[in-house]
Amino acid sequence: MSVIEGAVRDLLEKTEFLTIVTEGPDGPHVVGNWGEYLRRMGFDGDRLVFPAGYYRKTEENLRRNARVQVLAASRAVDGSHGPGQGCLLHGTASILSEGGLVDRAKAAFPWARGVLVIDVDRVELQL
Ligand SMILES: Cc1cc2nc3c(=O)[nH]c(=O)nc-3n(C[C@H](O)[C@H](O)[C@H](O)COP(=O)(O)O)c2cc1C
Repeated sequence: MSVIEGAVRDLLEKTEFLTIVTEGPDGPHVVGNWGEYLRRMGFDGDRLVFPAGYYRKTEENLRRNARVQVLAASRAVDGSHGPGQGCLLHGTASILSEGGLVDRAKAAFPWARGVLVIDVDRVELQL
């Protein structure tokens, strides 16, 4: 069963940006991406795909520990207290440097060196 559905899907369709957290040897490492870039690459089932231009430290961290947490939020999605919802997505990630997804990323974002692929396995709405 898909975990990206309902309010979570709505958030990914509206969020302006996302934060992506990996675990490094010295603690958490936080990077960002644009909601619009995610929507241009598409999210298929429970898989999120982002263009990777840099993400060198993120890639190093993922080689040691593939677990990631992603935060997305939008005031345009209602939470249980009114306007505004946010969601923490848990999953495993890797950076791919070849293949069909990478060809698509490079066509849309000529600066991309690859893609960051995140397979989401659990979601938690926050508001
Ligand atoms: C809103 C936002 C969008 C970003 N979009 C991208 C992106 O599409 N691709 C990318 O490689 N880095 C993007 N960055 C930069 C990353 O957060 C990060 O600083 C950079 O990739 C270096 O990653 P590293 O510390 O893992 O080496 C974005 C940052 C922000 C704040």
